[in-house]
Amino acid sequence: MMDDYTLPFWIYLGVLTVFVGGAMKKILASHLSAASTLVAWLGATVLVERLWPFCLPAVLLVLLAVCLYYATRSSPLPSALPAHGKAVFITGCDSGFGNVTVKHLDSLGFDVFATVLDLKGDGARELQRTCSPRLTLLQVDITQPQQVQQALLDTKAKLGLKGLWGLVNNAGVCVNFGDAELSLMSNFRGCMEVNFFGTLNVTKSFLPLLRQAKGRIVTISSPAGDQPFPSLAAYGASKAALNLFTNTLRHELEPWGVRVSTILPSSYKTGQSSNHAYWEQQHKELLQSLPPALLEEYGEDYVTETKDLFQSFASQANPDLSPVVHAIVQALLAPQPQARYYAGPGIGLMYFIHSYCPFSISNRFLQKLFVKKKLMPRALRKQSGFDLHLSLHNNNNNNNEEKLK
Ligand SMILES: *[C@@H]1O[C@H](CO)[C@@H](O)[C@H](O)[C@H]1NC(C)=O
Ligand SMILES: *[C@@H]1O[C@H](CO)[C@@H](O)[C@H](O)[C@H]1NC(C)=O
Repeated sequence: MMDDYTLPFWIYLGVLTVFVGGAMKKILASHLSAASTLVAWLGATVLVERLWPFCLPAVLLVLLAVCLYYATRSSPLPSALPAHGKAVFITGCDSGFGNVTVKHLDSLGFDVFATVLDLKGDGARELQRTCSPRLTLLQVDITQPQQVQQALLDTKAKLGLKGLWGLVNNAGVCVNFGDAELSLMSNFRGCMEVNFFGTLNVTKSFLPLLRQAKGRIVTISSPAGDQPFPSLAAYGASKAALNLFTNTLRHELEPWGVRVSTILPSSYKTGQSSNHAYWEQQHKELLQSLPPALLEEYGEDYVTETKDLFQSFASQANPDLSPVVHAIVQALLAPQPQARYYAGPGIGLMYFIHSYCPFSISNRFLQKLFVKKKLMPRALRKQSGFDLHLSLHNNNNNNNEEKLK
């Protein structure tokens, strides 16, 4: 009897095993919280239980795959490379990830070259005060090629014949926030100018030194570059361009011995995102620059709600930046650095949903997770009242049909 459907069953089981194995690998590699990992395990257990009555060897196969994975995983990790004597160049250190990363890299023994926008600013002065004399501060706006060029000359002068071990592309901006139609062209260009073209110019400039040392490139990107977060089109598009560039670079630099990693942080409280006055100013400017007809159709209250929601989201962001710093150190010092580091709670789950769930579910998840708008654009409000009425009517009809059956 069993022989009749043995082949299709084994094919089915093979596919299932690959899927479950892949899912487990993804979940476990993503620094998920213990709770989510437990849920995944429970899911796998339920699955195994359901398969049990069908075929014992198949169940054993699934277990074997999981055990094999664990066996390879728990083999002792080769220890990190020494930081001493290695030079690292890191951009955007006035505040945020740059600020804390520089201090940590300095304490580990790296020779740190840190760029800031303002050498006389609080951030730069604090770094100068708290770090060792090995720290070199450079004033660089990465959108200005001459300044990047000057930083390269200064770095070379200090390095002498030595190469550069690490480049940490940290500088980035999120110029504005809102529906794509309400985002100014200057916002799209502003994001591209810093996040993409600035990083591109820095990376190209320092590559000869990095190839010389067979070093590392570590780029701080964002999940907004992989997934369509509502209201983040300008920022997300620039990070998407950045992701594609660094992924291509990773393959091209492999023969040179240069390893390329991308860090994908969840939401953190960094300099700009918690700067209330900055966002109020941006909001004012946006209201003044939008064409009046467009503002009329969306409504000023709609634009203001988006800004308020973003600010409350930013105020709830994680103030402890250490998962990102830890990921940067891993990418710089692990003998075999990963291509991607998911830094922060929940981010692994977010990517899991994005990769394995249907589009409709992952999009809804993003909308629930991020700013939850209550207001419709003004021009749609009347219309939506009408639609709501229609759909209620339809539902009633459906209910009646149900009852008739
Ligand atoms: C830099 O980080 C420290 C914590 O290490 C924090 O206290 C300080 O406010 C930060 N400075 C800036 C300018 O963001
Ligand atoms: C950086 O950009 C400037 C201006 O576009 C260009 O002249 C320079 O060659 C770029 N640097 C590299 C290394 O490509």
